[in-house]
Amino acid sequence: MPHSIVIFGASGDLTSRKLIPALYLLHRKRRLPEETVVVGVSRSDYGHEQWRSMLAETTARFVGEEFNPQTWTEFAQSVYYVPGDVNQVDDVRRLATVLPDLEPGQPCARLYYLSMAPSLYETAILHLGAAGLAEESPGERRIVIEKPFGVNRETARRLNEVVHRAFHERQVYRIDHYLGKETVQNILVLRFANSIFEPIWNRNYVDHVQITVAEEVAVGKRGDYYDQSGVLRDMFQNHLLQLMMITAMEAPVRFEADLVRDEKVKVLRAVRTMRGADFARDTIRGQYLGYRNEKGVPADSQTATFAALKLAIDNWRWQGVPFYLRSGKAMSCRTTQIVIQFREPPHMLFSGPKRTRFDANRLVIQVQPAEGLQLHFQTKVPDAGMQLRLTDLDFRFQEKFAGALPDAYQRLLLDALTGDASLFARSDEVELAWGVIDPILAAWQSPAAPPLEHYEIGQWGPESSTGWMRDQGREWFDVCPVLKSQSL
Ligand code: BG6
Repeated sequence: MPHSIVIFGASGDLTSRKLIPALYLLHRKRRLPEETVVVGVSRSDYGHEQWRSMLAETTARFVGEEFNPQTWTEFAQSVYYVPGDVNQVDDVRRLATVLPDLEPGQPCARLYYLSMAPSLYETAILHLGAAGLAEESPGERRIVIEKPFGVNRETARRLNEVVHRAFHERQVYRIDHYLGKETVQNILVLRFANSIFEPIWNRNYVDHVQITVAEEVAVGKRGDYYDQSGVLRDMFQNHLLQLMMITAMEAPVRFEADLVRDEKVKVLRAVRTMRGADFARDTIRGQYLGYRNEKGVPADSQTATFAALKLAIDNWRWQGVPFYLRSGKAMSCRTTQIVIQFREPPHMLFSGPKRTRFDANRLVIQVQPAEGLQLHFQTKVPDAGMQLRLTDLDFRFQEKFAGALPDAYQRLLLDALTGDASLFARSDEVELAWGVIDPILAAWQSPAAPPLEHYEIGQWGPESSTGWMRDQGREWFDVCPVLKSQSL
């Protein structure tokens, strides 16, 4: 069956930076279903050719060496542009009459992609519904919705309700680009396609789990948006909680969208709700020095650009195993890593002078960059008595597999096109994730808030974060990944 992808917000940054490059690369790899067309819609008054040549320039820039003018020309023949304002129901109705003429045949499976300001989502969805564009005859109709999905549980619930007025849940693909990352999917493979990890993946062997998404970049040009959002909305409600769910979930019976999502949702349901003194004890909020001078940020902003949370998961597997989640802008380096810190051996035979309790085994899942895994374990230093040293087994995707890892959007666009929702968030999942974040956001506005700590650019967040872990007898794994050259 022919396919069409209709991108609303076609003149926006996401379209040129991520969506078109991903679709072009899928075309290059011959992964797109045969007879697929892309239709851009936005208010700008372009023609097909004008949009194509703008995209040729941006795609060449974002794709780099993988850009090939010949395959681009081939791909661009299936790219169209329709001017229209999704705020105007008449424009959407007109689009409904134009689309079949651009599509390669009927029935045609159609994917709508909302790549626009989130404030326009509700109107856009209602107008799609009113224009009959959500109806599934004669072809499948699906819709991809970008983050942020609401700004709290209440708004997420309302948006879900609006979505469900026009679309069935099975037609809806709420995107979290972290789920499209190869290394995040590899966590599922690591856990559920091997037999050696799962038996120790629980409270009997694991002391705690650390999930860090550190960014070296500051807020840049996004001050306006960021100051309204802050790190909890921007990173935790979606990416960090997704990483936590994938790390903590039980094995689904089959790898099917609803079965996978059922297991993820159970993790969120088991997260202990913080109350009273918990917020000051179990959360840290920080702001990098200089943030208040960023464009669009008020001089007295209280917005957190760094947060660390200690979450408890109340179920059989994880009782008593804290999950430490932290993320921040303007940190030491860019690294997304999950550290499974195992317990110390129950009885130590070789306690040398240098040994500390932080030397127990750990598995480091390096999500990005330097994608791979490291297993840390004690080794005897040769010719040095019974002296021990923590060494590691180091697996790098780059060394074992040829070619660069594809950008997350390739996988996600292809899955949405072909109707696999396993790597997309379901309505209950999004609402439950807000349910974890909302009480913290509220507490941070109240006397229960921990102080807003400031940190120098290029640090691992506020200094207190290190002391906080030490006080709990633990230590952050503050190690920047070492990138090895491609030739290795
Ligand atoms: C986005 C956030 O969702 O994720 C950004 O809005 C953040 O603030 C980005 O920089 C990080 O994504 P990645 O893939 O670069 O780790």
